[in-house]
Amino acid sequence: MEELISKLHAVLGAANTVQEVEAIRVNFLGRNGSITLLFEKLKSLPNEEKKAYGAHINSVKQQAEKLISESLATVSEKELISKLNAAEAVDLSTPASVELGSFHPRSLVLKDLEEIFESMGFYVEDYSETVTDYDCFESLNIPAHHPARDMQDTFYLNNGQVLKTHTSAAQNHIMRKYGVPVKAIFPGRCFRAEATDAKHETTFYQMEGIMVDEGISISNLIYFMKTMLSEVFKTDIKVRLRPGFFPFVEPGFELDIACTICGGGGCQSCGNAGWLELCPCGMIHPAVLKEAGIDPEKYSGFAFGLGVDRLVMMRYKCKDIRDLNKGNLKFLSQFKGGA
Ligand code: PHE
Repeated sequence: MEELISKLHAVLGAANTVQEVEAIRVNFLGRNGSITLLFEKLKSLPNEEKKAYGAHINSVKQQAEKLISESLATVSEKELISKLNAAEAVDLSTPASVELGSFHPRSLVLKDLEEIFESMGFYVEDYSETVTDYDCFESLNIPAHHPARDMQDTFYLNNGQVLKTHTSAAQNHIMRKYGVPVKAIFPGRCFRAEATDAKHETTFYQMEGIMVDEGISISNLIYFMKTMLSEVFKTDIKVRLRPGFFPFVEPGFELDIACTICGGGGCQSCGNAGWLELCPCGMIHPAVLKEAGIDPEKYSGFAFGLGVDRLVMMRYKCKDIRDLNKGNLKFLSQFKGGA
């Protein structure tokens, strides 16, 4: 019987898989296994021998069971490690998050705007968020100490620069970069030290557009404004054009949109006016063209400064402009799938 145990030792030592160990168990302890068969012999033994023989084979059986279960533990751990090292290196039992992010509503609107203007032959340009006083004011016909500076509550930096208060700050740079003719839009983040409310934020997006060539007139400006709005809203919306003063355009206009939140009746989002200033615009002032090296006798052009965040409010009926900067997932997840 001792040979049986040493034989078991030997075969278990050579086994590498759970399946192999299981086959060995059947060979030794299964119904016709070599240890099981020892019990058959018990019946034919004389009674006085039964006790000693029985005790002996029971201890052999227990030794065998112990050896097999130890071997099973060893090979199953080995199997697991080799599986993890090979094909199943990814633990599929770990819970995974399948939450997908989504575009910010402002990004959706900007993407549309860029596509619309690109299809009409405009370049899409970018410009710094910190600009010089010259970029932001001087080049735009707003000299130092001119009262028109009060129109924009500016963040002045210690190095003499300012946080861009409007995208118009890139006009001079873009006109110099391309010369004439030029058609370009330049969206960007702007900053003003303002008191905030439902339609005013200290940080907001604008999209400037300029077109300069021979013979450009107000009708070109109106055509592009109309096309942009009908493409963005895909439905008829009410707008009005009224005179507006900006030192860098002449004549200058305010283009207002009938508030889509209250339908024009007046609400908090439009400051109870029923209308929201959406896109100030006008014909570029001759002094601004001249400052950019363009002859105002020969060329003319228009400029507009679209309030992108206000357009987002009107398109998606967002009641408060400040929601666009809060990073609130409850608000932002409404735009999943490009609403
Ligand atoms: N830059 C102006 C503003 O932010 C808007 C504007 C742009 C007006 C272009 C006219 C032409 O207030």
